[in-house]
Amino acid sequence: MCGIVGAVSVSAAGTPPADVVLDGLARLEYRGYDSAGIAAVADGGLAVRKKAGKLQGLLDELEREPLPGTLAAIGHTRWATHGAPTDENAHPHLSGDGRLALIHNGIIENFAKLRNELLADGAVLASQTDTEVVAHLLGRTYAGDLTAAMLEVTKRLEGAFTLLAVHADHPGTIVAARRNSPLVIGLGDGANYLGSDVAAFVSQTKSALEVDQDQVVTITGDSVSVVDAAGQPVEPRAFTVEWDAAAAVKGGFDSFMDKEIHDQPQAVADTLLGRTDELGRLKLDELRIDETILRSIDKIIVVACGTAAYAGHVAKYAVEHWCRIPVEVELAHEFRYRDPVVNEKTLVVAISQSGETMDTIMAVRHAREQGSKVLAVVNTYGSTIARESDAVLYTHAGPEVAVASTKAFIAQITATYLLGLYLAQLRGNKYIEEVADYLTELGRIPAKIEEVLGRQEEVREVARAMKDTTSVLFLGRHVGFPVALEGALKLKELAYIHAEGFAAGELKHGPIALIEEGQPVFVVVPTPRRPTLHAKVISNIQEIRARGARTLVIAEDGDDDVTPFADVVFRYPPTPTLMTPLVSVVPLQIFAGELARAKGYDVDQPRNLAKSVTVE
Ligand code: F6R
Repeated sequence: MCGIVGAVSVSAAGTPPADVVLDGLARLEYRGYDSAGIAAVADGGLAVRKKAGKLQGLLDELEREPLPGTLAAIGHTRWATHGAPTDENAHPHLSGDGRLALIHNGIIENFAKLRNELLADGAVLASQTDTEVVAHLLGRTYAGDLTAAMLEVTKRLEGAFTLLAVHADHPGTIVAARRNSPLVIGLGDGANYLGSDVAAFVSQTKSALEVDQDQVVTITGDSVSVVDAAGQPVEPRAFTVEWDAAAAVKGGFDSFMDKEIHDQPQAVADTLLGRTDELGRLKLDELRIDETILRSIDKIIVVACGTAAYAGHVAKYAVEHWCRIPVEVELAHEFRYRDPVVNEKTLVVAISQSGETMDTIMAVRHAREQGSKVLAVVNTYGSTIARESDAVLYTHAGPEVAVASTKAFIAQITATYLLGLYLAQLRGNKYIEEVADYLTELGRIPAKIEEVLGRQEEVREVARAMKDTTSVLFLGRHVGFPVALEGALKLKELAYIHAEGFAAGELKHGPIALIEEGQPVFVVVPTPRRPTLHAKVISNIQEIRARGARTLVIAEDGDDDVTPFADVVFRYPPTPTLMTPLVSVVPLQIFAGELARAKGYDVDQPRNLAKSVTVE
């Protein structure tokens, strides 16, 4: 949570650092949008502008009061933790002498103690934030060397932080530190950058460096130095950003979410790309876990949160079916704080779009401490989960900017299916030909998603007509169950409507009491080519219809059995059962987005949420 960007250049020629920072903030605004701010060193002092509300408020402020030209700038977009989203609590925060500015992502857990110490020592604090406390500590510790001050102060901090500081004495320098919060370095030509993730500087450079836990970074326009907590130089690992800057803009769509829904065929295709050899066998070279270990695992536990956890639920059906290995799916925050039975025979699969979800990071660490191998299914290069896991299987969905996850979900299912098929191939549960057949089916998914997108206007029309609805239920069976959960989550987070997903079979064990005249219920229907499963869902539709529900049915083309019991039918092309989530979720995403838009809500930045949940 919170987006951080810093830019510094060797000379005033070229793109001004402040412009790079504002461009980066626009790309990072999904990480938090309670307030935004920027600081630059100019004319021997600091220039700071900050404003509560979305980035546009800061841009308006800068129109009225432009920043002077500068060699270095740092900027922040906030998701409030300590203190309300006000101008005073917006970052950057200043040291007591006003000569140092600091921005921060994370939570300083011992901030109350540090704050009391400062107050007892006469400090005057202008905000309620934990960040201002660190700014004051840094200002007091600084004695001419900003890097040394940062090393000193971070020793006193507990919790999670990425910190970026500039000082009036050092106009062309930014000093940064990280612990449990993300930070990457971008290497430019006569300029260098810092960001919460590569989206911050992808328009400037594709060349990047990873920053590890407890490291302190000092950048100028032509130098980068990284030291560990003891002040010893370290060699950061380099990587190339594969995302295109254009991928992080709306590209003619009304919202990022719309664009990302339309990116889904590509996300599946890119996630499949290059993962088979010339004989059609799956090859996942990036799985740096010894094959003998992968052959000997006797349990898989998926840890993830929200939509990523629902992708894990979908994967469970496929992986158990293909590999005959038990798969448990657990919310990362629950896994971490109980006493899970995991050992060296357990493969923990951590699914995360951002790779920065703190709950999932903590679960990864816990699993590794217990001796389990951790495989990350992650979308963001250089992210913490990718770095801290034993191996990474990247989803190639490209940058996901809208807060509500869409294409990442589809790409996560695709990647975990590849993993399942790979394990089945490796462990001899499936012949190469069978794996190849499944891969062929996966290869057909992009065109099927295109077909569903081609029918989106029917969904949008229904959504607009339902804009005053106050409650919607979602039912599904087998892989349709997690799809129902995901449909409900999308509607809750975007349209702020009460929405709940149920396993269709669970209905008569309680939830059916909710059904009354006119209650809208989405039902995800499996292919009729799985007759037993299909027949059960048809019965469930009849049961709720008989009690007055308005049924909105998602069914395969040609499935006429649903027609007598459906008020509305949204169709998807014929698809094997295990693959249906990749197509049947699409109408639910479109429905939620359109209904939210009809209610006048911001589809990309729903209230109270942030894209990357980097606090526990
Ligand atoms: C919902 C949504 C969230 C995320 C969850 C995990 O639309 O986006 O539920 O899926 O916060 O985030 P990542 O995948 O970044 O770990």
